[in-house]
Amino acid sequence: MSNAPLLNELSQRALAGLRQTPKCLPSMYFYDDEGSRLFQRIMRLPGYYLTEAEHEILAQQWPKLLDAFTPDGRPFKLIELGSGDGSKTLALCTAFLKARASFSYVPVDISAHALNSLLKAFEHNLPSLRVHPRMGDYFSGWQQPEHGQRQIVMFMGSNLGNLTLDEALTFLRQIRGHLRPGDGLLLGLDLMKNPHTLLAAYNDPEGVTAAFNLNLLRRLNRELGMNFQLERFSHYACYSPLDGAARSFLVSLDKQTVRSTRLDLQLQFEAGETIYTEQSQKYSPAMIRQLAQDSGFASALHLQDQQGRYGVSFWQAL
Ligand SMILES: C[S@@+](CC[C@H](N)C(=O)[O-])C[C@H]1O[C@@H](n2cnc3c(N)ncnc32)[C@H](O)[C@@H]1O
Repeated sequence: MSNAPLLNELSQRALAGLRQTPKCLPSMYFYDDEGSRLFQRIMRLPGYYLTEAEHEILAQQWPKLLDAFTPDGRPFKLIELGSGDGSKTLALCTAFLKARASFSYVPVDISAHALNSLLKAFEHNLPSLRVHPRMGDYFSGWQQPEHGQRQIVMFMGSNLGNLTLDEALTFLRQIRGHLRPGDGLLLGLDLMKNPHTLLAAYNDPEGVTAAFNLNLLRRLNRELGMNFQLERFSHYACYSPLDGAARSFLVSLDKQTVRSTRLDLQLQFEAGETIYTEQSQKYSPAMIRQLAQDSGFASALHLQDQQGRYGVSFWQAL
């Protein structure tokens, strides 16, 4: 699979962000092939508890999820938005198949690298599962299922947290718009907790998160002909307990000018000036209930890992 069709729109969004004050980049821009590889390494870092906690919930509590997805045993279509390499979903699908559930799986992702890894793993481990990958933006090419088939949308890995609360609400309403009453939405959401634990997840001593963040500049150099010198920027992460948002930035280490050889573009950076690259919102149980209510869902099930760090919520479309 190739990444080509999305480059123009993405590049335009990246450019618009760089021209703003303060400068920012869309977090969707992280996931070129190298970014996806680096994110797979982040998920294995000891401090990045999100993956382990979500995996624990899916591996240990899947029977409750299967019951919620199909209380009457009807076939369902599992549509995973931003599936990544699907490693946690593979474990869930394996358990569902063992329990003789009837379902198909539609992973959707903009990253060709992530989808190819996913397909390889699913073909190898679950050859009998019907997998219909869709490469592209979350909502492009969404097909309504056959009559009688329930749609269960998954949005895991705390992906929703990359949106502001207003954007998240708009996004959830957009998902709701593609569903019929009785369809479901499964969300993996990181919970508010000790700020030290949270910050460590975005500031690993191994420097993998820094490399992931800086890879944005490498991508801008490659795709927009920019001449960013990566060693003149550094990764900075912070967490604000007041609004529950972890945020990542790239910091210009000195006053500098960055140019594009292909575009009519020249960017000035002051020493210490930042590019805002990602937000990772954390939620309280009350915030989760409110989001469900405001976007046309009933909050049906809320599961947490044993340490109470992370939540998986199942909502039903009203
Ligand atoms: C943080 S990773 C999470 C992956 C997976 N859900 C997990 O929990 O391990 C986000 C994934 O969403 C994909 N993604 C980001 N923005 C997207 C968009 N607008 N449309 C489709 N996929 C997107 C990225 O390519 C990446 O694989």
